[in-house]
Amino acid sequence: MKDPRGDLSFIESNKHIPFPLKRVYYIYNVPKNERRASHAHKELSQLAVCLSGALEIILDDGFNKKDFILNDPSKGLLILPGIWRDINFLENSTICMCLADRYYSEIDYIRDYEEFLKFANGKNEIIN
Ligand code: TYD
Repeated sequence: MKDPRGDLSFIESNKHIPFPLKRVYYIYNVPKNERRASHAHKELSQLAVCLSGALEIILDDGFNKKDFILNDPSKGLLILPGIWRDINFLENSTICMCLADRYYSEIDYIRDYEEFLKFANGKNEIIN
């Protein structure tokens, strides 16, 4: 909501995100040009929002890669299961907030790229 007093954005579960919200986490105090993530999830869906600064998110479905720049807190990037993501923090004071449809579970992560390629095998596509 644009307002001369400052802008306001809101996200409602099942409405602005296509899933019931279970978890919110945020990454901050990241040195400029540091890269995080470099993993995929087997079942987790999430929405990434850049609350401050700028992020580059590279999505990879095992065949194609797509690059997104997030620098507007009113916009989010939906990341579906089976998609590899690399996240570059492009500026100091960048804050990345993620809304997720599952609780934290290490066994849902695929952290090895070769394992990801076997898992993906054309099953999932980047939809954005
Ligand atoms: P991780 O998702 O691996 O972050 P990144 O891929 O950006 O390096 O999370 C780092 C650690 O934080 C992980 O080992 C466990 C912990 N963690 C939680 O306990 N709960 C959470 O919801 C998340 C996202 C991470």
